Order: sequence, then C-alpha cells, then structure tokens
Amino acid sequence: MNVLGIETSCDETSIAIIRDGLLTANLISSQDFHSKFGGVVPELSSRAHLQIIIPLLKNALVKSNLKLNEIDLICATAGPGLIGALLVGLTFAKGLAYSLSKPFIAVNHIEGHVFSGFLMADKPEFPMLTLVVSGGHTILLLVESFTQVKKLGSTVDDAAGEAFDKVSKLLGFGYPGGPQIQKAASKGKATALTFPVAELKDPYNFSFSGLKTAVLRHIQNNYKNVDAIPEQEKNDIALSFQIAVIKALTIKLEKALKEFDVNSVSVVGGVAANHELRISVEKVVKKYNKNLVIPDLEYCGDNAAMIAFRGQKLFEAGIVHDLSYTPFPSLNPQHFS
Ligand SMILES: Nc1ncnc2c1ncn2[C@@H]1O[C@H](COP(=O)(O)OP(=O)(O)OP(=O)(O)O)[C@@H](O)[C@H]1O
Ligand SMILES: [Mg+2]
Repeated sequence: MNVLGIETSCDETSIAIIRDGLLTANLISSQDFHSKFGGVVPELSSRAHLQIIIPLLKNALVKSNLKLNEIDLICATAGPGLIGALLVGLTFAKGLAYSLSKPFIAVNHIEGHVFSGFLMADKPEFPMLTLVVSGGHTILLLVESFTQVKKLGSTVDDAAGEAFDKVSKLLGFGYPGGPQIQKAASKGKATALTFPVAELKDPYNFSFSGLKTAVLRHIQNNYKNVDAIPEQEKNDIALSFQIAVIKALTIKLEKALKEFDVNSVSVVGGVAANHELRISVEKVVKKYNKNLVIPDLEYCGDNAAMIAFRGQKLFEAGIVHDLSYTPFPSLNPQHFS
C-alpha cells in the first residue's frame, strides 16, 4: 500500500510517502520569512502552502519512484492549526482523493506527533507514556494502543514551545525561539539565576506562564530595555529558563513512571528537539529501565511522515473519512479524555 501524507497546519508545508511500509519521502518546506514578523502570519502562511504544495508532491513522487495514480490512500492534517493553512492541505487532499477515487483520512496533527516515535527504527512498545511538547500543546498521555489514548495531564496556560518562543522574544531573539534559546543557553552559567517551577494541584498538569512572567519581571527590574541586557546575561537567562522548563517536564514524567507500569517512554513535538531536554529525559528513563524513543529532529517538528503513518494506522483500523470533513482549529475537550 502506498500512502500519501500532507501537512499544512502552521508554517511547514510537508509531503510524505510511505511505500509498502517504508518511508520513501518526507519533504519539508519551512516558511522562514515569518521570523521577520516575530511570529506566524496566518494569511502569508496559507499563500505559501498554496505555492509550494504541488511542486513538493511532484518531488515526493519522483523520490519514491511512483506515479500519482499509484497512491492508494490520501491522509492530511485536519487540525489543530491555523484554519486557512489547514484548508490548503485538506482541500488539496480531498481533491486528489476525489479525482483518483482513493480513500481519504483526516488526521489529528497531535495524534501524528503522539505516534511519531514509530517512524524510528527502534520503535516504542505499548503501553507507553508519551509527552507531547510542541508549539501549541504540552500533554502527558498514557498510550495503550493505536486507538486507546488516555490523557494524564496538560498545560493549564502556555505550551512549552510557546514559552520558549515568548522568552526568546523578551530576550530580543527571533522566531522560532526554541533553537535560539538552546544556543544562548549553551553559553550560559547555570548558577547565575534560578527561575521558579510551578506547583499545581493536579499532579500531571503543567504551567509555564508564571515562568515567562518571572523572566519578564527579572528583565524589567534590572534593565531599561532589551538592548541594555549584556550578552552573557541573556545567555544566563536563557539557560535558567531552559533548566526550569526541563525540570517542570521531567518531574511529571518521573511521577508517571512511578505510577504506571509501561514498556516505553516517548517525547515528541518540536520541543523534543531540545538537546538538554533529550539528555535529561534519558537520565530519568534510564533510572526506571524503560525503553526511550525520541524521534530524530526531522520528525520532532511538523512533518507529513507522522501524518501518513497515523493515517495508515486509522485506515487499518477500518476508518475512512467522508470528503465533507472540515478542518478544526483546536483540540476539543473530548480529545484524549
Ligand atoms: N531546540 C529546541 N528547543 C526548544 N524548543 C524548540 C526547539 N526547536 C523547536 N522548538 C520549539 O518547537 C515549537 C514548534 O514545534 P511544532 O512544530 O511541533 O509545534 P506546532 O506545530 O507549531 O504546534 P502544535 O504541534 O502544538 O500544533 C516552537 O515553539 C519552537 O520554538
Ligand atoms: Mg506540531
């Protein structure tokens, strides 16, 4: 079976093909021009998806040595994401499915991230604890199978990636913030500053807005404006912030490891690209002797390989979606309940 995956939920256009179980293409075109606006401009994002989506599909087919009519299943992200951006990929997918008379699957982008560990050679085993840390979501899940997913907790305010992006802005770095904070943090002194880790009543929930405010207050109390912050101080702030985020995430992960007898742990989403987070999670998981799967960087951020994979699993479970399926901008409370 040849599966086409299409991802256009935010600022990456991505087309992937899984040919008879083997990933033969995962092309990602990132819209870097948003950085000059300090964040993603929805209208520009939709237009850029429109421009690049057909050339990307053509390249993916060439790379996979397939013709369009040899695609058997068409999967596209239906949400959560920017509605105009989602409409581009979803409508394109539906048009292809209609004209080729092939089945169509609408994929939940976060479910794509959840199972992205399965794109690795060393695959997770159920039951697994999955920590989703992306630009818009921070969720801890107990995943029993491809269809049984239980939410243990999630952020009550900002997502981890969102916090990286906001603090990056406060320090005068660009968008996206994660890679720039990571780079600055690598030159920081760990003992210089300490930022708080939120304690919440619900044991598996997260909160990052207080941490972001603590960084803001520190800057406001000590400097006239962002340009007045010395470079070493920026590096120290970046490191202290990064340490606090990692601590908040690993504390909850360790708590879940004590409570649930799982076979694997997986950390997924854009923030899973963070080098120090990967090392810290590895240390925690090693203590409990569990198998840890963190996707390669290519599969942490948005990519269509995870969409094709998730779509194929749904198809194998007997699901096919109607061509009247509409996009959804956010997860509803029933998702992962
Ligand atoms: N090295 C890194 N360290 C920390 N954060 C990072 C790193 N690289 C990327 N990020 C963060 O990852 C986020 C992007 O991840 P991703 O593409 O999965 O999110 P999204 O698709 O925008 O959101 P969602 O998946 O929740 O809809 C951004 O917030 C970015 O700053
Ligand atoms: Mg994402």
